[in-house]
Amino acid sequence: MEKKSIICSWTEYPDRGTIPARVRELLDAAAAACDNSYAPYSNFYVGAAARMEDGSIILGANMENASYPLCICAEKSCVSNSESYKKGLVMEIIAITAKGLDHPVSPCGSCRQILVEKEQRQGKKMEVYLFGETGLVWHFHSAEAFLPMPFDSSDLNT
Ligand code: THU
Repeated sequence: MEKKSIICSWTEYPDRGTIPARVRELLDAAAAACDNSYAPYSNFYVGAAARMEDGSIILGANMENASYPLCICAEKSCVSNSESYKKGLVMEIIAITAKGLDHPVSPCGSCRQILVEKEQRQGKKMEVYLFGETGLVWHFHSAEAFLPMPFDSSDLNT
């Protein structure tokens, strides 16, 4: 028997002001995208902004529904919007935030799964920045860094 472990590593910045200017712009876009959120049931407003390889910035925001399970997360909306913009374009960086938080937002498992498959499909690492309205910013060098051992196409018997 052998004991195994997975190391999860990321870089922590004290606040948004300490992020390099090149990326801070993207963080600001994600924060602004929270205003596009439709979240009358949870009042939890999530925004995402992705920089694509052609330099464009694609936004996403959560969208809820009176039939609760139909709600769409900001990250999924951002990935889907990027595909509608240009299929297969590489997503280089994604920044994700939520209004009112004093700590980094933590994407749900299904959004992590969506981001990992996008990353695998593009064959290039996607940097991920997580933050709140105030406080720390966390930087992961890839989507898989925050979802180790993802379920993926290699698990399917097809
Ligand atoms: N939400 C996101 O948009 N992304 C996540 O990763 C977690 C949750 C949204 C879904 C719902 O509209 C609200 O936050 C509360 O769960």
